[in-house]
Amino acid sequence: MYRNYTCGELRLAHVGQEPVLAGWVQTVRNHGAMTFVDIRDRYGITQLVADENTPLAMKELVDKLGREYVIQVKGTVRERSSKNPKIPTGEIELDIKELTVLNKAAVPPFTIQDDSDGGDELRMKFRYLDLRREAVRKNLELRARMAHVVRNYLNNLQFIETETPVLIKSTPEGARDFVVPSRMNPNQFYALPQSPQIFKQLLMVAGFDRYYQIVKCFRDEDLRADRQPEFTQIDCEMSFVKQEDVLNTFEGLARHIFIEIKGIDPGDFPRMTFAYAMENYGCDKPDLRFGMIFKDLTNIVKGKDFKLFDDSECVVGICVPGCGEYTRKQLDALTELVKRPQVGAKGIVHAKVNDDGSVKSSVDKYYTQVELGKWRDIFGAKPGDLILILYGEKERTLPALSVLRLEMGRQCGLMDRDNFKPLWVVDFPLLEWNEESGRFHAMHHPFTSPKPEDILLLDSDPGKVRANAYDLVINGVEIGGGSVRIFDSELQAKMFKTLGFTKQEADNQFGFLMEAFKYGAPPHAGIAFGFDRLVSMFAGLDSIRDVIAFPKNNSGRDVMNDSPSEIAQIQLDELFLSLVTPKGKS
Ligand code: AMO
Repeated sequence: MYRNYTCGELRLAHVGQEPVLAGWVQTVRNHGAMTFVDIRDRYGITQLVADENTPLAMKELVDKLGREYVIQVKGTVRERSSKNPKIPTGEIELDIKELTVLNKAAVPPFTIQDDSDGGDELRMKFRYLDLRREAVRKNLELRARMAHVVRNYLNNLQFIETETPVLIKSTPEGARDFVVPSRMNPNQFYALPQSPQIFKQLLMVAGFDRYYQIVKCFRDEDLRADRQPEFTQIDCEMSFVKQEDVLNTFEGLARHIFIEIKGIDPGDFPRMTFAYAMENYGCDKPDLRFGMIFKDLTNIVKGKDFKLFDDSECVVGICVPGCGEYTRKQLDALTELVKRPQVGAKGIVHAKVNDDGSVKSSVDKYYTQVELGKWRDIFGAKPGDLILILYGEKERTLPALSVLRLEMGRQCGLMDRDNFKPLWVVDFPLLEWNEESGRFHAMHHPFTSPKPEDILLLDSDPGKVRANAYDLVINGVEIGGGSVRIFDSELQAKMFKTLGFTKQEADNQFGFLMEAFKYGAPPHAGIAFGFDRLVSMFAGLDSIRDVIAFPKNNSGRDVMNDSPSEIAQIQLDELFLSLVTPKGKS
C-alpha cells in the first residue's frame, strides 16, 4: 500500500492517527532545527515536519529532499501551532516517522505553483509539469465533470453513445481535411473527420433514433484562441424530430449543465433570426450581456450636405451609456480601432448628450439641434451618453460596428464572465456566395435542409433561401450549431447541384449517403456543441487551450513532442510518398 490518505484529506479529526501519504515535494523550508516539507498530490497539500525529536538520519534525509521528489511518508497527525486558513489541511501537520524517496526529480524548469514563473511556451513544452499545477488541473477536472453531466443527461434520454471511425472519407464542413496516406492502398488517403456528420446521419438511417458521442474532430484551419486543429464536440442526432424538438432537447442539456455545474438556471433561451442578429448586432453571435443595439440613421441623415453620410449606403450607430465624457484621445483610439484594415470602417462620427438634453456632435455644422435631437431620441440616449456612428457600405459597416460594440462593452465593464446570456440564432441562410470559387457554398453543410417554404427559391434566387439551421450562442461565442437534415435523396441531389457538384462528383463523394437515403431514411436533425468552448466558458477562460490536456500552439505544433515532424525515408517509401520542397523555401 503506497498510501491510505490523500494529501488533501487530513483534518483536526485525524489528530493522533498515523496515516501514510504519497506525493510530490512542493517546497522544503529548512529552519535549522525544524524542516517543513509541503507534499502535494492531485487532492491537495499537507505540511510535513521534521524537528528536534526526529531521528537525525531521518532529519538529514528530509533536508536533502528536492522539489518534485516523489516521496512516501508515514507520520503522526498533530495540530499546527500556526494554522494556515488558506488550505483545507491548514490546521494540521504530519510529524514525520518514516520517509521513502520513491523517485528523485531533476530541478523543474519552472515553479509548480499557481503563480508559476514559467512563460507560456516553457509551460507548454513541459505540459506534464504544468498539469501538476492546481490552476491548470482544475480546468481539466471541470472538463471531466462536465462530460459526466452531459453523458448522464443524454443517457437518461435514451441517446446511444456510438463511436464512429476516425479514418474516413473526407466530409466537407468548410475547412481543410487532415489526410492520412494508406500503406495498403497506394496513393490513396483517408481523411480525419471534421465531424462525424455523415456517420450520424447513417446511424439515423440505421434506426438508432438518438445518437451522441463526445468526439474528437480535426480541421486544418487557421488557429485562434477558440480554435484548435483537433477539438472535441458533443455530437448529437435525433430521428422523427422537427427543429423545435431539437432546440428544446438541447436547451434542456445546456440548462442542465448550467444547473449542475454552476448552480444557475439561465431560464428560457431567447431566439433570434440570423437576419435580426445581423441588422441589430452586426454579427451572427450577439453578446447579449449588454444592449447597445444598432440604430439605423440612414434615412434621416442624408441631404444635409454632409458628404460622408450622403455617399454612404448605410449610417448606423450605437449609444454607449455614461461615456459622454470620453476624451479626444479615447475617441481617437476608437477611430483607430475601427479603421484597422481587418475592421474596415471609414471613421466614426460621435455625439454626446449634454446635461440639459442638447446634443454636441462632431458634425454640428451640418445638423441642427432639432435634427440631432432626433438622433438622440432614436437611440433613447440620456444625458451623459455617447453616440457612435459608422457609415459606408452595409456589408462592411455592420460588422465594423459589431467590433466597436464589443469594444465598448469591454471598456464599460459589461462583459462579466459570471453572467451567462445564451440564445438561439435561427433561420441562417442556406447558402453563401463564394467570390473565390464563383459559386455558392453551403453555409452550414450540404446536408442542411432548406426551409420548406423557401425550396422554390433554390432555382430562382438561391442566396435568399433560408435553412432550418440554428446556432447556440453564449456571451458572443458560438458554442454549438446544427440543422434539420435533408432526408430525401432527390432534394439532396438538387442541393449538390446548386452547390456546383456534377452528378459524377456528387456520386463519387456522397454516393453512399444518397444510396442510404433510398432505403428509408427517417426525418432527422441534430447539433454539435464545441465542448472545449463550453468548458472554457464555464472556467471563465479566453482560450480553449487551457481546457485541453495537451493542446497545440498557434502554429498547430505540439511543442512538447515537437510534432508535426519528419518521418523516416523507409516510412515514406512504404507509403509511396516523396517529399517536395514547399515554394519559397530552400
Ligand atoms: P460546426 O462546424 O458548427 O457543426 O461545429 C460545431 C461546433 O464545434 C465547435 N468548433 C470548434 N471548436 C474548437 N476548434 C475548432 N477548430 C472548432 N470548429 C468548430 C464550435 C461549433 O459551434 N456537423 C456539424 C454539426 C451538426 O450539423 O450537427 C458541425 O460540425 O463550437
